[in-house]
Amino acid sequence: MDPLRLGDLHGALTDPVLAAMEFLNEIANRYPDAVSFAPGRPYEEFFDIEDLHRYLRAFHRHLLDEAGMDARQARRTLFQYGRTKGIIHELIARNLTVDEGIQVDPESIVVTVGCQEAMLLVLRALWAGPRDVLLAVSPVYVGLSGAARLVEMPVLPVRDGPAGLDLADLVARVRQARADGLVPRGVYLVPDFANPSGATLDVPLRRALLRVAAEEGLLLLEDNPYRLFGSTDDRPPTLKALDEDGRVVYLGSYAKTGFPGARVGFAVADQPVDLGDGRTGPLADQLSRIKSMVTVNTSPVGQAVIGGLLVEHGFDLVKANLREIEVYRRNRRQVLDGLAARLPDAAALGVAWNSPSGGFFISVRVPFPADDELLERSAREYGVLWTPMHHFYGDRTPLPHLRLSVSLVTPEEIERGLDGLAAFIRARAHPARR
Ligand SMILES: Cc1ncc(COP(=O)(O)O)c(C=O)c1O
Repeated sequence: MDPLRLGDLHGALTDPVLAAMEFLNEIANRYPDAVSFAPGRPYEEFFDIEDLHRYLRAFHRHLLDEAGMDARQARRTLFQYGRTKGIIHELIARNLTVDEGIQVDPESIVVTVGCQEAMLLVLRALWAGPRDVLLAVSPVYVGLSGAARLVEMPVLPVRDGPAGLDLADLVARVRQARADGLVPRGVYLVPDFANPSGATLDVPLRRALLRVAAEEGLLLLEDNPYRLFGSTDDRPPTLKALDEDGRVVYLGSYAKTGFPGARVGFAVADQPVDLGDGRTGPLADQLSRIKSMVTVNTSPVGQAVIGGLLVEHGFDLVKANLREIEVYRRNRRQVLDGLAARLPDAAALGVAWNSPSGGFFISVRVPFPADDELLERSAREYGVLWTPMHHFYGDRTPLPHLRLSVSLVTPEEIERGLDGLAAFIRARAHPARR
């Protein structure tokens, strides 16, 4: 048989968004000795095989002692195909109450194969026709852009600006889209320590966004995997917690607060859907119908491990992550101080960075387009990897911005990596003096 032609396969396969992840992984593999400020992976030194066994046992005990199952039912729950919406929905609801002060009906939760599947299900459900579009605060997480591409939902960018969201731009984009005959189906954003910008919306802006959503008839898709990695006692409420109008679909992930290998995330979709026969049901039920044809159900073993983690820590993931929160805080501080120490003349060089108070990411402006070729050069000649920001704008046009992630580096690597990064930036800022 002749080879299949890439151009004859789904258009997403030639989209730069899908190529981005591949490229970034590939370059990290090619330069294994380079210090990597690139991946958004959680800190891994605290991972312990024993935890997996203990969490699994804790969840099994929970099934027997709390959920009232007999041994046969508990065994079936762990080994068999399971409930499409998941088996830890009640535990997730308790976790949201403890960590976020949110009360949600467990029936409005769909447990998914990571947040990535939650995004895909929500976008698949919302896309009803070729005029439907999503708005997303830009730069935007590549996984969201990729999921939108797979369901053929165009994504219209909304400016982030210094506050993390330019509300006037959002309103203008929505109105322009409608004037163009398009139907905005939702607005995606990461309100806390965003990936990739690191920005956080303050509380007045969150309230103003909810007001605009009500006025303009918009659904908000809130994705919030990094929010616990900041202050432990002074977090702004989630949009979901402030939402009195059912406007927010909450996309959850246990990849950073638990661990990514479990592949467990969720969507809280409590919006009522009129079923047309006099009945209504939560949007979650419709997501579940789609899920039944995508992944059937989320691995009960993965769910059990996250369920056990939740039970063992009294549903309090802030407490469960105190060591990680401290590592990220220390690393962020070290990177920010290290940049300032190495680039005291940053303003003159045309270099600037933000100073997020939490999360994994720092956004750096540089006086040259930071493209993939320069990234390779940075790895090869300066021993340091970062992420070119253009990947988060969905095209190949290089931009003078890069993202640094502080989550997977040791203090020694930070020093070495920043030495390389500062030398690289200086060389590029004054190419004539090289
Ligand atoms: C903003 C954002 N949303 C979602 C995800 C994906 O989460 P999961 O691993 O649960 O699919 C990530 C992972 O990096 C992310 O940064």
